[in-house]
Amino acid sequence: MARSDLGKPITLQLSGKAIPNRLYRSPLSEYASTYDEDDVERTGIPKPRYAELYQELADGGAGLICFGNIPIDRHNLENYNNAVLDPRNPWDPVAAFAPAIRAAKSRGAICLPQLQFPGRQVPEFLNPHPKSASDVQLQPCLNKTYGKPTALNLTEIKQLVDRFVWAAQVLDKAGADGIILHAAHGYIHNQFLSPLTNHRTDEYGGNLENRARFILEVVHAISEKLPSNRFVIAAKFNCQDFIDGGLSFAEACVVLKWLEDAGVDFFDISGGTYESPVWRGDIMKEFAKRPSQKLRGSYFVEWAAEMKKVLSRAIIGTTGGWRDAQFMAEAVMIGDVDMIGLGRTLREDPNFVAKALNSQIRMSRL
Ligand SMILES: Cc1cc2nc3c(=O)[nH]c(=O)nc-3n(C[C@H](O)[C@H](O)[C@H](O)COP(=O)(O)O)c2cc1C
Repeated sequence: MARSDLGKPITLQLSGKAIPNRLYRSPLSEYASTYDEDDVERTGIPKPRYAELYQELADGGAGLICFGNIPIDRHNLENYNNAVLDPRNPWDPVAAFAPAIRAAKSRGAICLPQLQFPGRQVPEFLNPHPKSASDVQLQPCLNKTYGKPTALNLTEIKQLVDRFVWAAQVLDKAGADGIILHAAHGYIHNQFLSPLTNHRTDEYGGNLENRARFILEVVHAISEKLPSNRFVIAAKFNCQDFIDGGLSFAEACVVLKWLEDAGVDFFDISGGTYESPVWRGDIMKEFAKRPSQKLRGSYFVEWAAEMKKVLSRAIIGTTGGWRDAQFMAEAVMIGDVDMIGLGRTLREDPNFVAKALNSQIRMSRL
């Protein structure tokens, strides 16, 4: 299998931005920003390590570099020590994020920081009163407890849309090529999309069109301010939630197409929620007989390949499980996906991409 397929550039169609190769760094929390439990205003400021990390990843050759999730509300964090973008903060967010963005782009990679609102997946010790699509509480999981959420009212939904736009504008000013929405793993977009967590009876609940309204409004609102011919909107998106009653594969395919039509130009396919954290792989042992896990070296490539058929323009990749460069090259060569997303492989070795492209390495040491 020709490893050279991974070295071929690919162009994001709406913006015309060229991605120099087929390997991307999927969003992964850096835990490299300030956290001050007594002073929320001093929380979420990127530390020097934040930019250093992105310099290492840029030097390591990834063609597209996503930043780990950046919560857009300082009172609603999925964890501490991550960067935060909140319009109430007194510090200059453009100056705070610019060094890491500059570093990520320094070797020609495209840079997409990830925007996120955790909804009901805020650990209780950080905020016992979260907001969600509905008041469906998350039962203890991932070694944490979660407060009972209240449903966002229509004014709060509008404010949340505005926050996504504001954060995207900040990152644009700081030099980012675009943003990637965290619409996977059970966070707010997923909470609106999933019938398990969305029991609303207004225009944001009920049928799929209504459940998809929030994410589509966010995409439209961002592209109204930041035209798609220069600013990329991407989404990390579940192929399914892997939980009974959650977002199904069939519904995910429909929403994927709506998102493409709305202007999303890149998808990173994943799966699962906190209740069913399939993206981490442990649970995938249950599916060990599935071809994608055993024969393809990826958790989700089978579903991502089907999703690619739904799209007509956007670039699609999938993250989860990739450790073997031969499998990565195979998936790109046969056209199942356009790109390969790497999380822990690059955390273990930021130079994996350069080494894989030069055939110096085949397997991640993970
Ligand atoms: C420590 C850790 C932090 C993560 N943080 C994020 C994140 O901020 N945003 C996100 O979309 N996914 C996040 N993920 C999920 C990864 O992007 C990826 O989907 C997952 O690790 C599977 O890919 P891998 O097998 O290549 O690691 C995280 C995963 C880990 C292990």
